[in-house]
Amino acid sequence: MESAEIARRFLRFFEERGHKIVPSASLIAEDPTLLLVPAGMVPFKPYFLGQRKPPAARLASVQKCVRTPDIDEVGKTTRHATFFQMLGNFSFGDYFKEGAIPFAWELLTRSESDGGFGFPEDRLWVTVYQDDDEAAGIWHKQVGVPLERIQRRGLADNYWHMGVPGPGGPCSEIYYDRGPEYGREGGPVADEDRYLEVWNLVFMQYQLSAVRSKTDFDTSGELPAKNIDTGMGLERMAALLQGVDNIYEIDTTYKILDRAAELTRTRYGRDPRADVSLRVIADHVRTGTMLVADGVLPSNEGRGYVLRRILRRSIRNLRLLGTGDERYMHELTAVAIDAMGDTYPELRSDAPQIHAVIDAEEASFLGTLRTGTAIFDVAVEETKRRGGTKLPGEQAFQLHDTYGFPIDLTLEMAAEQGLQVDEEGFRRLMKEQRERAKADAAAKKTGNADISVFGQLLEQAGKVDFLGYDTTSAESAVIGILVDGRPVPAAGAGTQVEVVLGRTPFYAEGGGQLADQGVLRASGALVEVHDVQSPLGGLIVHRGKVASGELKVGDEVQAEVDVERRKAISRSHSATHMVHRGFKNFLGETAAQAGSENSPGRFRFDFTAAGAVPPSVLRDVEDEVNAVLIDDLQVNAFYTSQAEARAMGALAMFGEKYGDEVRVVEIGDYSRELCGGTHVHSSGQLGLVKILGEQSVGAGVRRVEALVGLDAFRFLARESVLVAQLTDQLKARREELPERIEGIVTRLRTAEKELERLRSAQVLAVAGSLVEQARDVHGVSLVTHRAPDGTAADDLRKLALDVRGRFPSDRPAVVVVAGAPSDRPVVVAAVNEAGRERGLKAGQLVGVAAKALGGGGGGKDDVAQGGGSRVEAIDEALRRVAEAVAGQLG
Ligand code: SER
Repeated sequence: MESAEIARRFLRFFEERGHKIVPSASLIAEDPTLLLVPAGMVPFKPYFLGQRKPPAARLASVQKCVRTPDIDEVGKTTRHATFFQMLGNFSFGDYFKEGAIPFAWELLTRSESDGGFGFPEDRLWVTVYQDDDEAAGIWHKQVGVPLERIQRRGLADNYWHMGVPGPGGPCSEIYYDRGPEYGREGGPVADEDRYLEVWNLVFMQYQLSAVRSKTDFDTSGELPAKNIDTGMGLERMAALLQGVDNIYEIDTTYKILDRAAELTRTRYGRDPRADVSLRVIADHVRTGTMLVADGVLPSNEGRGYVLRRILRRSIRNLRLLGTGDERYMHELTAVAIDAMGDTYPELRSDAPQIHAVIDAEEASFLGTLRTGTAIFDVAVEETKRRGGTKLPGEQAFQLHDTYGFPIDLTLEMAAEQGLQVDEEGFRRLMKEQRERAKADAAAKKTGNADISVFGQLLEQAGKVDFLGYDTTSAESAVIGILVDGRPVPAAGAGTQVEVVLGRTPFYAEGGGQLADQGVLRASGALVEVHDVQSPLGGLIVHRGKVASGELKVGDEVQAEVDVERRKAISRSHSATHMVHRGFKNFLGETAAQAGSENSPGRFRFDFTAAGAVPPSVLRDVEDEVNAVLIDDLQVNAFYTSQAEARAMGALAMFGEKYGDEVRVVEIGDYSRELCGGTHVHSSGQLGLVKILGEQSVGAGVRRVEALVGLDAFRFLARESVLVAQLTDQLKARREELPERIEGIVTRLRTAEKELERLRSAQVLAVAGSLVEQARDVHGVSLVTHRAPDGTAADDLRKLALDVRGRFPSDRPAVVVVAGAPSDRPVVVAAVNEAGRERGLKAGQLVGVAAKALGGGGGGKDDVAQGGGSRVEAIDEALRRVAEAVAGQLG
């Protein structure tokens, strides 16, 4: 049975039993405590906690999931994978154990021809939480599972929570007995390879306030209702139903594995080491493709880092299979897109962008590998020189953080050098970094408050109406006030507050558009709003300070947005849409938005592109956009279905494809884009758009910055003044400026070179006379010379070498030149080969001189340089050298 069919059957079964089917949410978790969605229930967390009302009491879904805690195990075992899809049915205060257990049994055991999965009843085993007599009773009495196939287990196995504060509860798991060839008798407690877990039924009934580990957590109370969360791994199910051994051999993965084997000319199942690599590649390429499709871009933080690591591990494993500098990710990504494209059609339509991102990461990582290897070699040499056996954790971390070396790469390369790595130190640093990133992200989204406080506010306020598309000023009422993240009835002057209103014209930062600012006026208080955020969908939180009076819950307020700022931001936002369209027109559809920031008078726009954008394209886009401004196109916004919007060709930000109803903003017939932001009424209001330039902001992503309206005009006006000043200074016409400046620069360079040549010549002019003045010391020609103060160190060196070269090669010669290029003396010694044969060494002589100069130095036998701090000792230093030479020869 194909994977897609398994999913269809599952959903149909539950749909027929009153469940509403919800599409998979993005892999990017909305939950600030998580980076990525690791389980099917994650999008429903607010429903379990009672923070939001579910669209129906019974839901079912197939959810994309990414889990990376066991990433190191991937490939080494055939059980671990980083990407999987979870089939699940959910009940929110509707049915509980007595419903979930029989449903699961029925679907598993019903024959295939009858829409089920056709598992023989006597091959199924179940586990329940140790004291869950209720679940055990239902399994035995209601369903008829014999007691000997019902096993009880503790917290570690039969209790489920998210690993972070949230809902949790005891669970019951269903296992399939694969037969004696896979392991020991005795049920799941004896052998989890032979008895394979296929379905986990979680009886969600507790709220967890702190989670320290799987078995160590605090329960703060019961959830508002008793719920059901079940999870069945689609990939594992597919392995069983497709009669293959493991998840790497099912329809959606083996194609990638096969192609990787073909490209690297390896064969799966021959060499265990190569098999590990092939499995890593198959799993990771698929995960990487799915993450990029959901809008994650490789970076060094957060989810971007997860993606980078996954891609780099695939590339590294390709290299282990001998691909060298050749690039194969493109081919493999294409296979992954093909294998998953039936279930996720957006993979096909977004394929060009997905390729652009992954290819660019591959190119940059191959470069990184080259540089990083050099750094690694130095670190190894250092460690060995110290007599150490372990590469320090900091070094491994630096390789990782700065050069993107996966730790397993460092470990492997170190092992090749007979070294270990201080992994503990490395992990500590990694953990610190992760915590910093997590804290940053959470602080930004939720301010001080625990997310549940916002959930309660949302419950009280209902969805907050955003009025800001039509107005910038509105009457409203205070629903809640938070101080330091805690709800308060009132807040006095000087207090930093977070205020929730029943409805508001204030735009919360989102979709690249910065937050509005403004004031809230109550009869007894004035609040200055400097930031607005939406920590939970539907909730709008105004952050600011009570400037005067006292603000109380229930107060009527006049909410007034700073209109000038809003207008300037809206101009930027409309301009961003137009520039987006412009780049697509000139670079092709692969130029897709990857991020943006619309601030007053200025915006930046990030988009996918394989390489730098030529200046001519920047000019073309700018030209086209400004022409559209003059046409003064009408701007319209309307709501429609996701499907309708796609059909109209509305641009979505790359990776943004969730939610049923979407808002479309169109600028005449020029641009049409999904957008929740605020805009101008007609394109003419932008006045002018000026693109400042473009740069790279990561693999496969370029950024342009631009100015809009008066800011654009003022920029051009300033440039114009600058040009006027130049024409005045150079006495040239505007159009002559580039040529004139080029001429000046060329002449300057020639003059500088000439000056340099003259100076050297001057220094060297004395060379001839120095040879003549050489003293004979026991058959060796000795020259000691003090150059004029200010002679550059380079010239001192040149002079010493030049003089040395003037002696016949069979004549032993020593040349020592000293001077003071600055307020510090420098000495250079040069000894020719015949001199070295007499036992004279430049390094040693410089050492003697440098000592007299109050410093140090040394070097090789043929030429050496040193220095010190005592300019007044130069003559003495030269004398000492002469004495040393005489002493050595005599
Ligand atoms: N939340 C449970 C799991 O992820 C069941 O869906 O296993």
